[in-house]
Amino acid sequence: MSGLIVYYSYKNHTRMIAEKISEITGFDLCEIKTVDDYTDDYDALVDETVDNLKSQTKPELQPLDKDISGYDTIVVGSPVWWYTIAPPIRTFLSSNDFTGKTVIPFVTHAGWPRSAIKEASRVAEANGANVENPMEIQFTTDYDADELVTSGDDIKSWINSL
Ligand SMILES: Cc1cc2nc3c(=O)[nH]c(=O)nc-3n(C[C@H](O)[C@H](O)[C@H](O)COP(=O)(O)O)c2cc1C
Repeated sequence: MSGLIVYYSYKNHTRMIAEKISEITGFDLCEIKTVDDYTDDYDALVDETVDNLKSQTKPELQPLDKDISGYDTIVVGSPVWWYTIAPPIRTFLSSNDFTGKTVIPFVTHAGWPRSAIKEASRVAEANGANVENPMEIQFTTDYDADELVTSGDDIKSWINSL
């Protein structure tokens, strides 16, 4: 089975988990980048995105450096933004055909994931994916600390089940 991890990370949390998955499973890594960068100012970003997310924007992405057609299993990682998936992940999930593929969504969040994982599953399934093994991973609200609330053991056993 060939596996790919596609993720978007504004700062670091989702990347840390994506790299851990790659380390344990050997799956390839592919980072999503937008054509237009978001602001570096966290508070400004939070203010700026609330309207975007209400209208469920799909920002344009830079070309991926992996061809997803070559993989059976795609792990898709997103931070939670305003209780749902981050817009770059919405673009990715809604603009690819996942027919015949298994998509494993995971989100990182700070305690309020609400419907993000359901939304990732819904959009992937709408584009043909067989969704399995979704996972929510919580970090502390201190964004710069990069500190997990979800236990390392829970994360490892989820990764080992992939
Ligand atoms: C614009 C924005 C909105 C956010 N909204 C939420 C939210 O609704 N619920 C939540 O639990 N965390 C929220 N967070 C926190 C992030 O989901 C959390 O810190 C995540 O792990 C960040 O991942 P990253 O470092 O890969 O970007 C938000 C962060 C940002 C920047």
